[in-house]
Amino acid sequence: MDNWKITYHSYDAEEQAKREALLTLGNGYIALRGAFEETSDNATHYPGTYLAGGFNRLTTNIAGKDIENEDLVNWPNPLPLTFRINQGKPFHIDQVTIHEFQHELDLKSGLLIRKVKFSDEQGNETSLIAKRFVSMNNCHVIGISWDIVPENWSGTLHVVSALDGDIKNNNVARYSDLNNEHLNLISTNCLGEHIISLAAESNQSHIKMALAARTELFIDDKKQKPRANFKSEKGKAIHELELEVQKLQPVRIEKIMTLYTSKDVAISEPLYQAKTSIEKLPGFNRLLQKHESSWENLWNRIDTKIRLNDQSEDQTILRLHTFHILQTVSSHTVNIDIGVPSRGWHGEAYRGHIFWDEMYIMPFLILHLPHVARSLLMYRFRRLGEARQAARDEGFEGAMFPWQSGSDGREESQKIHLNPESGNWIPDNSHQQRHINHTIVYNVWHYYQATKDMEFLSYYGAELILSVALFWSSIAQFDRKKSRFVINGVMGPDEYHTKYPDSDELGLNNNAYTNFMTVWVIQRALDVLALFDGNQQKQIMQAVGLKDEHVKKWEEMTHKMYIPFHDDNIISQFEGYEKLKEFDWERYKREHGEVMRLDRILESEGDTPNRYKASKQADVLMIFFLLTSHEIKEIFGQLGYSFNIQTDIAKNIRYYQQRTSHGSTLSKVVHSWIYARLNRSNSWKNFKQALMSDFKDVQGGTTPEGIHLGAMAGTVDLIQRCYTGLQIRDDVLWLNPRLPENIENIVLSIRFRSHWFRLYINHKKVKIEFEKGWAPPVEIGIQGKTYKFEERSCKEFELDQSKKSN
Ligand code: BGC
Repeated sequence: MDNWKITYHSYDAEEQAKREALLTLGNGYIALRGAFEETSDNATHYPGTYLAGGFNRLTTNIAGKDIENEDLVNWPNPLPLTFRINQGKPFHIDQVTIHEFQHELDLKSGLLIRKVKFSDEQGNETSLIAKRFVSMNNCHVIGISWDIVPENWSGTLHVVSALDGDIKNNNVARYSDLNNEHLNLISTNCLGEHIISLAAESNQSHIKMALAARTELFIDDKKQKPRANFKSEKGKAIHELELEVQKLQPVRIEKIMTLYTSKDVAISEPLYQAKTSIEKLPGFNRLLQKHESSWENLWNRIDTKIRLNDQSEDQTILRLHTFHILQTVSSHTVNIDIGVPSRGWHGEAYRGHIFWDEMYIMPFLILHLPHVARSLLMYRFRRLGEARQAARDEGFEGAMFPWQSGSDGREESQKIHLNPESGNWIPDNSHQQRHINHTIVYNVWHYYQATKDMEFLSYYGAELILSVALFWSSIAQFDRKKSRFVINGVMGPDEYHTKYPDSDELGLNNNAYTNFMTVWVIQRALDVLALFDGNQQKQIMQAVGLKDEHVKKWEEMTHKMYIPFHDDNIISQFEGYEKLKEFDWERYKREHGEVMRLDRILESEGDTPNRYKASKQADVLMIFFLLTSHEIKEIFGQLGYSFNIQTDIAKNIRYYQQRTSHGSTLSKVVHSWIYARLNRSNSWKNFKQALMSDFKDVQGGTTPEGIHLGAMAGTVDLIQRCYTGLQIRDDVLWLNPRLPENIENIVLSIRFRSHWFRLYINHKKVKIEFEKGWAPPVEIGIQGKTYKFEERSCKEFELDQSKKSN
């Protein structure tokens, strides 16, 4: 493994599903799993073709109830390609004897290469080099080339190149009882000698998708005139090409594809567009060059370079994570109305839905590609109407965004889900995680801090922040006994706790994270309101439905929100948490080995995690992850709670760390972050675990169903913001680096208020180099002192070791 390549040196059927997810190629518009071209859906292989935002709804009757789910559709597969030698069987990786094998993803160029030497039942030995890219240059283009060398045979090469419309969603075993037929085939066609096409449509959302494929054969770079035949069979458009080949004479197959959908802008009709554009496209190498130079330009901006003092593969995995962020959302995303899905467009788990995971992904985008971040915020803005309706339906004011969001912004969380441990269908109560609404404000605010994009804030961002704040002040009640505001009947990020063990009612009271962040959100709403003058303020208040009495309540809430505590300044995850039983971690670890999904184990034993002090993931500790110590101190101070930033944070971390199973990959990111200034080696340990979440599929089977983009982006952000101490506060971008011992230096580029600057950090020094730009000067703060920077500024600073913790 070099620093840019993920290489597998042998074929392993058991590992294939995971590799397909990790080797997915995409461009923020489409994504294709890294399945081999000659395979189709079976126990080992699962080609998946996903459109960013390509959703469809289906209803299934489960246990007498009609359940509707919105799925990320697996669309027609553009990849199918294989060949037969004379009258032999078509080449398939599982049906040949493999002599040599290598599968490699080159992250620098976005190229997937497979090299196989094999022989078939007749003893024909062949070498194959298969290359594939999904263009980052033109998001509608996919290219495949197969270089074949007949090592010991001559004869007829029958190439079979197809477009497969006979596709069902079948990636997640847990969903197999649910309806999975999303597609209607519209047409298959042959358009002259080299080109075939296929069009299909999702059967409920009626998104139309069209593919055209041009397959050509070359010997010595000369285009051949093979005998060609077209057939349409079982939902497939099939192109057969026949050519006589000689022993040791290399043959090249090129399959170039175009893909358009009815959601595209600037087109007439998808099939027409796919057909007309493919005729004009150059060959594989030319298209590849363009694709590679797009990636090169991107890497110049997005690469997070770390020099390590060990031989580990961390740099490569970090690049793999950055690569997958960009394959999920990129500049191509800006024209599509999508949010960023928690599992990428890499598999079907969680159905491509958008959760709070975007909070872990946005910081990377905000500081590198703010135009992409803005487009994701617009996805939320467009769904404000639905969120307002959801709030109204529950008797609240303002806007209440759904826990899981898909096409139109309604709540997409499942009503019931299958526990594979017990085989039971059980209620899914996760939609009570109203804290998703903090996420949206947090993202808008941080986007605005990094960009000062006042146009966005005034037209869209302010309305989002104020509408969400209005929801929080409407769900919060004043409790006379406590003389404080309370929020009841919700869930925190820890999904193990959905209700009190002895209660039939869903939800918990005063989840500390929710209450604390509510104060932060309301403070931001007050900040935003203060940005506007009389008339403008009136207008925006009218648009949101905000009245003076609401603002008065907001001000009170920032002083009187209730935060539960127990023992000696331990923040209670929710009110009454201290009454729960301690969980016997040792026994369960002994009996089950792995207890990440404790909820499933306990349910299968007729028990529930609701009874125990056991969390799936960071909940209280999210406060220390998301907010700076300045903000935490200020909020506790304002609320009148005595909380010692130095000692109480550490105490709370110790307390909850022992009671967390890390059943979500996000949890390790949070733990790494909060340890960064307390215990560097612990932070690094958690970082490494988060880094390997998908590469090693630590949850044992979830990566094949889609990567965990929140954890992936979270690890990049740990380097980008946490270890560099990067915070934007009071119009200043502050740096206070504290590198883990294992990292010798970090080099990255940052976009801040329309400037690009390069940051070089080691244990002793920081160097900041501004590029030529056009924006007004900005301020950068190093360890407490601020400096003015403008285009082409370059300054170096010695770090004062005594100021590294805060
Ligand atoms: C986690 C959530 C997360 C979701 C999607 C769940 O397992 O508990 O916090 O948002 O996965 O990634």
